[in-house]
Amino acid sequence: MNQLQQEVDKRRTFAIISHPDAGKTTLTEKLLLYGGAIHLAGAVKARASQRHVTSDWMELEQQRGISITSTVLQFNYQNFCLNLLDTPGHKDFSEDTYRTLAAADNAVMLEDAGKGLEPQTRKLFEVCRMRSLPIFTFMNKLDRPTRDPLELLDEIEQELGLTPYAMNWPIGTGDRFRGVYDRQSGTIHLFNRVKHGQQAAEVEIMLPDDPRLADLIEPDLYEQMLEEIDVLDSIGAEWDQAALHSGKMTPVFFGSAMNNFGVELFLKSFLQYALKPTNHDSTAGNVAPTDQDFSGFVFKLQANMDPRHRDRIAFVRVCSGKFEKDMTVTHVRSGKNVRLSHAQKLFAQGREALDEAYAGDVIGLNNPGVFTIGDTICTGKKLQFAGIPQFSPEMFAYLRNPNPSKFKQFRKGVSELQEEGAIQIMYSSNEAVRDPILGAVGQLQFEVVQHRLQSEYGVDSRLESLPYSVARWVEGGWEAIEDAGRLFNTMTVKDMLNRPVLLFKNSWNLDQIRSDHPDLKLSASAPVLT
Ligand code: G4P
Repeated sequence: MNQLQQEVDKRRTFAIISHPDAGKTTLTEKLLLYGGAIHLAGAVKARASQRHVTSDWMELEQQRGISITSTVLQFNYQNFCLNLLDTPGHKDFSEDTYRTLAAADNAVMLEDAGKGLEPQTRKLFEVCRMRSLPIFTFMNKLDRPTRDPLELLDEIEQELGLTPYAMNWPIGTGDRFRGVYDRQSGTIHLFNRVKHGQQAAEVEIMLPDDPRLADLIEPDLYEQMLEEIDVLDSIGAEWDQAALHSGKMTPVFFGSAMNNFGVELFLKSFLQYALKPTNHDSTAGNVAPTDQDFSGFVFKLQANMDPRHRDRIAFVRVCSGKFEKDMTVTHVRSGKNVRLSHAQKLFAQGREALDEAYAGDVIGLNNPGVFTIGDTICTGKKLQFAGIPQFSPEMFAYLRNPNPSKFKQFRKGVSELQEEGAIQIMYSSNEAVRDPILGAVGQLQFEVVQHRLQSEYGVDSRLESLPYSVARWVEGGWEAIEDAGRLFNTMTVKDMLNRPVLLFKNSWNLDQIRSDHPDLKLSASAPVLT
């Protein structure tokens, strides 16, 4: 087997989707703990709170105690190399998460078992569904009172249309959580609570007929477990790896990230079944991860992570070949050759120089002004990967510049923040109105833009809210809008590429327009450029 094939076979790239507070930070820490990347779980958080302020932008993160920036965590477990694409926890930055999911090959859906599906998880699930990503489900916080596990599975099936397959099954919950029954090996894993879950949990593995179990599990819990397993075996779906890989079935694991319960079982199974880097569609056909030519695409830009350099880092997902330090690639959009001399690995807030990378990895390129989201870079034959979709914002506001003398800086700031993808920018279709319209997923996104305009470009700004909450791109362009005639209760705007977008007050208005104008084709995401 050649070296490229070996490297690709080792890699698993994934992102975690969850609602804030479900335990994403905790699970991430525990995965790193098992990967040996940190010795004492808690280090990621501790380091984050101790780290000195590295930019104004991070100052905002600190003031609010939220995480806006995202990173890529690479760690090894056994013979595997895992790339965890970490995303901001706050829902107002979910657009960032949408883009990151475009670079992931698998997703882990993390639920708080006391709550089940929550709004942010549902939204992110929809993005995974668009890409048919394999989804692994981790039911967390089993050490606390939970909802009925069978009901949790049913909810996934009924509400997401995803067939759940319980990989393991909890024995008791809350104070009486004793461990899980692993359906694949037919063994019971009993857990001992370790102090704050700082070390890997000691696990005792037994067969269900082990006589010692009588002393370790209360008889009623044992009986209940047997009954539930029986139900799963008789009415549950059969395990189907192909259905997982096409995004139709989700293996479900139960555990408690905080106590390390079930984390390693999950990790092992994940490595066994997760998709390794696969082919990517491009203008030159399918690109295989083992192709000799290097290729990748930019899925995220993050500016001014380090204020001393006013840098802008482009996050590139490698799709094929081998990245080598100092290599020269074609930047397909401009047709120019670019030398990749300062590539970085992006670990938490730290950075490390990077010498080589393979399909599935993410590299950080520091190259101001060259890259925008969706750009392809490659060696050999020129090709372009499908772009990254833009999704409908949910809040809109005019951004006014109160200081005409600062017009230039204002324009530069707005255009750079737009390029970076910090916010969506649209303009009124009425040429006389020149102020940009910001489209955001949440209020904080507006605040970050205003804060950064002030601190990075030295300009003040004023926001003027607009009463809209839904955007739809119009297929067929301006002609289609004209043909449709008068569209009540909507505002027509154009995006940065001059494509028409309709803003609606609410989904009721949207439905109304749809029924009044059946010929008008509206889309919740912008057409992808190729
Ligand atoms: P997030 O990144 O998804 O927002 O969640 P995070 O990991 O920060 O976890 C949210 C809260 O849930 C934390 O409590 C965390 O300790 C707790 N948690 C995570 N996993 C488990 C679990 O398996 N069982 C229980 N009982 N709790 C869990 P906190 O009080 O907000 O923070 P902290 O003081 O514990 O750090």
